[in-house]
Amino acid sequence: MQAPPDFLEPTINTIAPDLWLTHDDIGLGPLRADLAETYWRWENSLPVMAGYARQTPESLTERTAGLEAQLEGSADQTRFTIYRHHDDAWTPVGMTSLLIDDRYRTAEFFIYIGEPDHRGRGTGTIATTMVLDWAFHVTALRCVYLEVLANNTAAIRAYEKAGFRTVGTRRRTGSWLGQPADELIMDAVPEEYSGPRLVEAAVLGTPRAHP
Ligand SMILES: CC(C)(COP(=O)(O)OP(=O)(O)OC[C@H]1O[C@@H](n2cnc3c(N)ncnc32)[C@H](O)[C@@H]1OP(=O)(O)O)[C@@H](O)C(=O)NCCC(=O)NCCS
Repeated sequence: MQAPPDFLEPTINTIAPDLWLTHDDIGLGPLRADLAETYWRWENSLPVMAGYARQTPESLTERTAGLEAQLEGSADQTRFTIYRHHDDAWTPVGMTSLLIDDRYRTAEFFIYIGEPDHRGRGTGTIATTMVLDWAFHVTALRCVYLEVLANNTAAIRAYEKAGFRTVGTRRRTGSWLGQPADELIMDAVPEEYSGPRLVEAAVLGTPRAHP
């Protein structure tokens, strides 16, 4: 029997990932151990560090240990790798998380698009909408909230389009490019969710209609 040709060798971009939810060309799937260096590279890039006001890079050793804990999983967190479908492959482009407070059925939301070429193309907005659908219709949360630096206009715009609204401002509690910066507090509740019902469609086998 002939050996398979080299071009069938799987790569990070051509392996069909285990996707939990898809919408158009965006997918959400579990965290992956083989992406440890990729997550680390993304999280230590300057746009992501600036977006989270991080002042020191993290070592690969530290990130790998953190990922091991995240991969073990627990009931107080749901973490997703974000994929974008292009060139006939699902490419990992970022990460998003819900850190759940079970006492009140709330969660704090985090997101970044790590691959620069995939920012500003609607990926963050769609992924945020999909996580809200999951948060309200899988995790049964009452409220999802986030904090964002007031200078981070791209993030604020993406969050607003996905259904978050600003409910307050914390003054000078963050920093942006080395200067003190305000942080907006934004939240989303299930009663106001108007995005696509992807979870419902997957469970009931119905068309993915807006409510
Ligand atoms: C924030 C982030 C997740 C958004 O994802 P994204 O895929 O780039 O966002 P989208 O393309 O869906 O939407 C961005 C919106 O902001 C707008 N935008 C982009 N840069 C902007 C800027 N400098 N000023 C104003 N608006 C801007 C875009 O035009 C778009 O709005 P539109 O569709 O009305 O035109 C992504 O940019 C990112 O990962 N940034 C670095 C990490 C970070 O800051 N995370 C959030 C921390 S709270």
